[in-house]
Amino acid sequence: MKELFLLDPKTVFLNHGSFGACPKPVFEKYQSYQLQLENQPVKYFVQDVALMLGKSRAKLADFLNVDVENLAFVNNATTAVNLIANSLNVGVGEEVLACNHEYGACSRMWNRLAERRKFSYREHEVQLPLYSDEDFVENFWADVRPETKVIFLSHITSTSALILPVAEICKRAKAQGILTIIDGAHAPGQIPLDLSEIPCDYYTGNCHKWMLSAKGSAFLYVSEDEKKNLHPQIISWGTDLQSTGDTALAAELEYQGTRDFAAFLSVSDAIDFHAEFNWNEVLQQKRHLLYKVRTIFSNIFETAPIATPEFMPMMYAHQLPDTWNPIVLKQKLLEDFNIEIPVTSVGTQNFLRISVQGYTSFDDIEKLANALELIKQQFV
Ligand SMILES: Cc1ncc(COP(=O)(O)O)c(C=O)c1O
Repeated sequence: MKELFLLDPKTVFLNHGSFGACPKPVFEKYQSYQLQLENQPVKYFVQDVALMLGKSRAKLADFLNVDVENLAFVNNATTAVNLIANSLNVGVGEEVLACNHEYGACSRMWNRLAERRKFSYREHEVQLPLYSDEDFVENFWADVRPETKVIFLSHITSTSALILPVAEICKRAKAQGILTIIDGAHAPGQIPLDLSEIPCDYYTGNCHKWMLSAKGSAFLYVSEDEKKNLHPQIISWGTDLQSTGDTALAAELEYQGTRDFAAFLSVSDAIDFHAEFNWNEVLQQKRHLLYKVRTIFSNIFETAPIATPEFMPMMYAHQLPDTWNPIVLKQKLLEDFNIEIPVTSVGTQNFLRISVQGYTSFDDIEKLANALELIKQQFV
């Protein structure tokens, strides 16, 4: 499987989660779209691209099991979250509730916006260890207040690599008239994702992480009721120049003046890649590596996992004891052993987070385990 990717073989690459990695056949198609543009720019923009985008979007809608009318491409999850947040009608005395494992840039955005717009942004503290979805839902729900107007939650947390039970949270929120925004940056392609089973108002996911498309491809799903409330900051021709292949939502959100659509188009090829190589099955076959890592980390760090295995996607984050300096650890792994693996943090808790992708091998895991043992002997 390593042969299918462009990754430098000298690096043990255990951080698919941060930015993904695009397979060669998908990357070649991505570049071919850029060449097609430069070959005849007017024909590309005026005639071809809307139809090509329409096909890619329709394939993505099938992949996610949603109506294509409720789906649009965006550059990344950050763009989608900003777009939704800036469109919201939340004001003084009202709050957006999230949890303390949200992606740092999203928390930062909410804090900035809350300050400017005078609403409250609050993060529920996840009680670790997590033993069941029900525990998470009950604890989270106990923190919902009458002023909670919006719930913003990661589907898979970036820092702690936990799958959160967002469908159940959305069901409860809907019953109480609370708006839900799900940040699924890591979800599509990493876990089975059927959006028809998550009754949220908004869902964003990155295609350039686990779906394996080119960088700068993500999607925004908007429920039918919420469509009218979305107000993009960049307004271009929109539905005034809607071509065959476009939906109204896509026309409003995707066209932002002249731009490179190649990454959006590569989503179609990434979906073909998943089908051709039966990628779900490939990931399932690698799952034993995650269990192996769980045991290795527990033994080396002498701490217990922060959640039971049902919470584990294709990433695993293990809490570092205070005796391990997170900066030294990250630096040593990369500089002395050529191992690319992130150290993440939630408040003062630090985690070593591994991603297992189709190209991850047993040998990669052994190299990591040996490196950690050596670092432990020398520095801890
Ligand atoms: C949970 C979560 N949300 C949002 C993002 C932002 O993704 P992007 O940089 O593609 O916008 C990330 C990135 O890792 C993430 O983990």
